[in-house]
Amino acid sequence: MSNIIIINGPNLNLLGVREKGIYGDMDFQTYFDVLRQSHDGVTLTYFQSNHEGAIIDKIHEVGFSMDGIVLNAGAYTHTSLAIGDAIAAVTTPVVEVHISNVYARESFRHHSYLAKNCKGVICGFGLDGYRLAVESLLIK
Ligand code: DQA
Repeated sequence: MSNIIIINGPNLNLLGVREKGIYGDMDFQTYFDVLRQSHDGVTLTYFQSNHEGAIIDKIHEVGFSMDGIVLNAGAYTHTSLAIGDAIAAVTTPVVEVHISNVYARESFRHHSYLAKNCKGVICGFGLDGYRLAVESLLIK
């Protein structure tokens, strides 16, 4: 049984409400319930925080024991050297996810402080990016 956690960062608690033209109209809990049901052999958990330190604490907490971390750090992706360092510090592989295609948006969204320390990056596939990230972590 694989243990995988999805960590969402700031403002992603507002999925389904926030800028629907960019992020869609489904709330994350609804998406997560379907994702969990369709992955019987995986223990999937979910954590969301709007606080940089809480995201770092969660990466430290799970990052030596779980099989994978799917991380959408929201805007912290483009600002947080500290989250980048936390990813480098742990042994669990991390896949960076973005719902939108950040490369088709403002130039400040084109740089990630996290990507270099991640196993890979998935962006631009909407919420389905989380499923793609989970499946990528299941490939041995
Ligand atoms: C995002 C992209 C970020 O640039 C933005 O700040 C977000 C969401 C995405 O999922 O597309 O909050 O990570």
